[in-house]
Amino acid sequence: MLASAFVRLPHPNPTADDVRAAAIADPQFGRVFTDHMVSIRYKEGIGWHDAKVMPRGPLSLDPATAVLHYAQEIFEGLKAYRLDDGSMALFRIEANAARFNASARRMAMAELPEELFIAAVKEAVAADADWFPPVAGGALYLRPFMYASEVFLGVKPASEYHFLVIVSPVGNYFKSGAPAVSLWVSEDYTRAAPGGTGAAKCGGNYAASLIAQSEAIAKGHDQVVFLDAAEHRWIEELGGMNMFFVMDDGSIVTPPLTGTILPGITRDTIITLARDAGLAVREERYAIDQWQANAQSGKLTESFACGTAAVVTPVGKVTRGDASFTIGAGGPGQVTTMLKDRLVGIQRGLVPDPHGWVTRL
Ligand code: PLP
Ligand code: COI
Repeated sequence: MLASAFVRLPHPNPTADDVRAAAIADPQFGRVFTDHMVSIRYKEGIGWHDAKVMPRGPLSLDPATAVLHYAQEIFEGLKAYRLDDGSMALFRIEANAARFNASARRMAMAELPEELFIAAVKEAVAADADWFPPVAGGALYLRPFMYASEVFLGVKPASEYHFLVIVSPVGNYFKSGAPAVSLWVSEDYTRAAPGGTGAAKCGGNYAASLIAQSEAIAKGHDQVVFLDAAEHRWIEELGGMNMFFVMDDGSIVTPPLTGTILPGITRDTIITLARDAGLAVREERYAIDQWQANAQSGKLTESFACGTAAVVTPVGKVTRGDASFTIGAGGPGQVTTMLKDRLVGIQRGLVPDPHGWVTRL
């Protein structure tokens, strides 16, 4: 199938200008959706076909659709930005396309040609370009996803898939607007085990993380920290973000990609930006005991989480059982702020993009 072969169906009843303006005035995260979606079908023997941009609306699923039973589902998350000159841009979309197929392989699903993934996301942004929220940090959050659409109850990889892109105008992920978030360490629940699906962006990983995230919220924290499944000792990541630790000598540690954490595109970007800034970055295991001891002794000065939705989010406080410890002065540190400013500057077209990460639309 050619990446240019999208049929664009007219919308019979697009959102009125005043209704849209009210919806995007304070969109928060993931609650507002645009008028269109992109849809592409796959069937074994036929391949990818029936690509269209269409009015956003409910899907009709047979109760025996495979995804409803065995959870063959994967997704991506990336943002489109409106730049100062009025143009639009995507950040590292090639990396999202590649990770989508890595997830597809792990979940025994059909791979989508990368150029088709990229074309589908561009079609979605073009269809809803008037939905950019006029708020600080505002963007269009793109959610490409794919589910097993075959109607069949046998346990095997499906032979039919449905790929879609939906679009959500978003503001900040953390509604508190606090300068730093508070984390709660889950010492019982783990997110992913060696050999499992931790490195894939599949819905099941998130389903498995929700009970721990709910416990964190119930105890008054913003996010849960997951430890490794084997020893319950090594810090892995948060429910939807990767972790970084900044030492008093300016060096940075982040957990290595051992197959149990998501290979975050923001993580990879931050590693590159930190090295560009002359900082030493070590991808190595960091124990929860070390985090606590080093924060208390002052050897560790900053910690932050990062991801597409959360951008760079400083960590202020960590609770583990009955004990809590504060990171630095409890607010955003110098290195965190510098890295965030560089990242956002490139994404928003305010500073040069030496690595060619930005795609102008
Ligand atoms: N870890 C998890 C579990 C995530 O859901 C995300 C968000 O996508 C990340 C890390 C960060 O990944 P990225 O920077 O590619 O958004
Ligand atoms: C993203 O950052 O894109 C994610 O998928 C994480 C989720 C918490 C929204």
